[in-house]
Amino acid sequence: MLSYCTSLRWVSPTLPRLLAVLVLASVLAPAKAGSVVPAPAESLAGEGSFRLLPSTRIVVPPGDVGARAAARSLAVLLASSTGLKLQVRSAEPGSPAAAIFFKRQAGLPPEGYRLEVSDRAITIAATTGAGLLYAAATLWQLVPLDADQRVAAIKVRDQPAYQWRGLMLDSARHFQQPEFVKRLIDAMALLKLNVLHWHLTDDQGWRLQIRRYPKLTSIGAFRVPAGRAAHADIDPSTHAPRRYGGYYSQATVRAIVAYAAQRHVLIVPEIDMPGHASAAIAAYPELGTVPVGAVPADWGIYDHVFNLSEATCEFLKHVLGEVIELFPGPYVHIGGDEVQTREWALSPQAQARAASLGLNDVAELRRYLIDRMARFLTAHRRRLVGWDEIIGPGLDRDALVMSWHGPDVALAAIGRGNDTVLSPWPTLYFDFLQSDAEDEPPGRVKTVTLQDVYGLDPRAPGLTPRDADHLWGVQANIWTEHMRTEERVWHATFPRAAALAELGWTAAALRDYPDFVARLEALLPRLRRLGVPYADSAFAVRLRRGADAGVAPGRVELYTESGNGEIHYTLDGTLPTAASPQYRDAIEIGAHAQLRADSFAAGEPLATPRRYVLDAAIAQRRSSRELELCSVGLPLALEIDSAAAGERPLVRLDIMNPCWIWRAVDLSTPHTLEAAVGPVPFNYQIGADADKIRVGDAHTASGELQVRLDGCDGEPLVSLPLAEAAPVGVSMLRAPLPVTRGVHDLCLRFARPGLDPMWAIDWVAIGE
Ligand code: ACM
Repeated sequence: MLSYCTSLRWVSPTLPRLLAVLVLASVLAPAKAGSVVPAPAESLAGEGSFRLLPSTRIVVPPGDVGARAAARSLAVLLASSTGLKLQVRSAEPGSPAAAIFFKRQAGLPPEGYRLEVSDRAITIAATTGAGLLYAAATLWQLVPLDADQRVAAIKVRDQPAYQWRGLMLDSARHFQQPEFVKRLIDAMALLKLNVLHWHLTDDQGWRLQIRRYPKLTSIGAFRVPAGRAAHADIDPSTHAPRRYGGYYSQATVRAIVAYAAQRHVLIVPEIDMPGHASAAIAAYPELGTVPVGAVPADWGIYDHVFNLSEATCEFLKHVLGEVIELFPGPYVHIGGDEVQTREWALSPQAQARAASLGLNDVAELRRYLIDRMARFLTAHRRRLVGWDEIIGPGLDRDALVMSWHGPDVALAAIGRGNDTVLSPWPTLYFDFLQSDAEDEPPGRVKTVTLQDVYGLDPRAPGLTPRDADHLWGVQANIWTEHMRTEERVWHATFPRAAALAELGWTAAALRDYPDFVARLEALLPRLRRLGVPYADSAFAVRLRRGADAGVAPGRVELYTESGNGEIHYTLDGTLPTAASPQYRDAIEIGAHAQLRADSFAAGEPLATPRRYVLDAAIAQRRSSRELELCSVGLPLALEIDSAAAGERPLVRLDIMNPCWIWRAVDLSTPHTLEAAVGPVPFNYQIGADADKIRVGDAHTASGELQVRLDGCDGEPLVSLPLAEAAPVGVSMLRAPLPVTRGVHDLCLRFARPGLDPMWAIDWVAIGE
């Protein structure tokens, strides 16, 4: 499906072409209704408009299955956004002239299309079914949401900058239902994303049914999650801790592949090898070098690797054989990332195997495997895809390299003559949080905002036009370690996927962040009507914190991360609407206030309204997310270990050093310190770095929360014993504070007897 090469046609346009692009860009309709994400290559506003009526027909060429599918998609999209239910008809003599026409036109770029809205008709033309579908996605965005659906006259000529516009979904760390995968594919197609790289196997789960090896899923697809709460959650049918997991049957996979193909999304399956293999080894111990036991629940990088005996290599070939039957696309991803060679080095069998293959070192087993799998895939007319660790001597020129270590590595791949897709860490790793708002769900704490994603320039410096043909596009990776619900996967993915789509589709000369955000504001209500639960992090109204991170009665400043939209607020507990007072400058808040605020564009809310209760007590209370971390070794937003069914408070901590600073606390009158604390499982495979973790000097067997004055080396102020805390859930600890004079920073750090569990502050407060 991706064998053509359209890439870069727009990346280095000749000067006249560039000027034409810029001139056309300047006539893009102002970013309201009428704006499109990703921005089209060329669009020219015309005179007049075409009015859509319930009687308007969508007309397709007789017998054109692809055009009918695109037309149906348009009908479904328009029904969701406008309520209009338009009918699809085959063209025939006497078809009404005022209709939406889908036509085939030879010679347009693959995936490209033309769309013309005049006061008489709407005409869509493309060579391929993908082009027709993408034209439908564009038209959907051009139709206003209001009752009077007049589509402003416009001419659009569009085609993608890059041929690979991908998302990687990690279904191994957490399993998503097939229905979710289909909905994700739907949402991808709307944004003209065309590759779903499906990460189906990893240490913590094997999610693909392989007929020849049933234990891969009967054993490998299930694990007991980390933490005491999960271990105490006994399954009455087994009298053992309930296992978490799931897998995709071959019938389900075939249905998803067909569903994706109809939406012009190519699925690239990944079977990760020789590392990230613990779940497979748990199912079939003979594949490993050391026993794994049950499917593990730690995140990070395990030492476990396939042993690469002849039998194991044959196993992998049989697995890929079934994968090829299921996924008709031209690419199979074999992982190849983060391979630890320690187990091989310690294994006489692995050493003997390396020697028998004539290898100089056990570490060369990795290359042996990749070469062997490349030969196997070539023989089956498939191309091998691997993470960029596969680059090395002798790498098959046909292998596609997924560059996650950045542009230098992409250039190295290209220099060797390999095609590559950019997927740089951390910018296109959607497990990083997208804002530092307190209500962001769990993830890696460094923030990768919408703007950060948008700001990535896929054109590696130093890329010659000849080499540029090897740069196939961009892909973002949704690693799901911290996304145990599908809602969280949606949240991490949208709207950052819209920024990604524009990197992949829209020529660099046409990309502009403020313009993108304004167009996105027009897209979001359409996504909302379709039920795509996107993150509103860039648009949610937030309070600007004072220097001490506190918010007290007084002057309060509001902002949104994107800076777009109008902020409206209420102080009487009612929900804000576009008619509520508009925020223009800092507002004065009395002794006790409840502030509700939201941002709006064209009268449509952009976010869920946020509510802030402001009073003196709040000024003396901080959540772990409002506190400063003492260090940024490996900072994560996690959950307190709590019963599976209940709420799990979100906490933010550096797992290398769970320690927080509370700035500028007034300690001059007698006070009590209250801390809501809870355990967080330590389930991280971080190798020798585990030795660097600060567990502190515990004075008691269970450890304690130690509070020091003016920094973490300062005078010990108070110590709250963890013996008084429950082993799961949130516990309250209290201790009187000695009176000191003035305002001080407090350092709050847990000292614990071992690595597991960690402890975290949910919130801390100073009371009378
Ligand atoms: C990767 O992030 N291990 C590809």
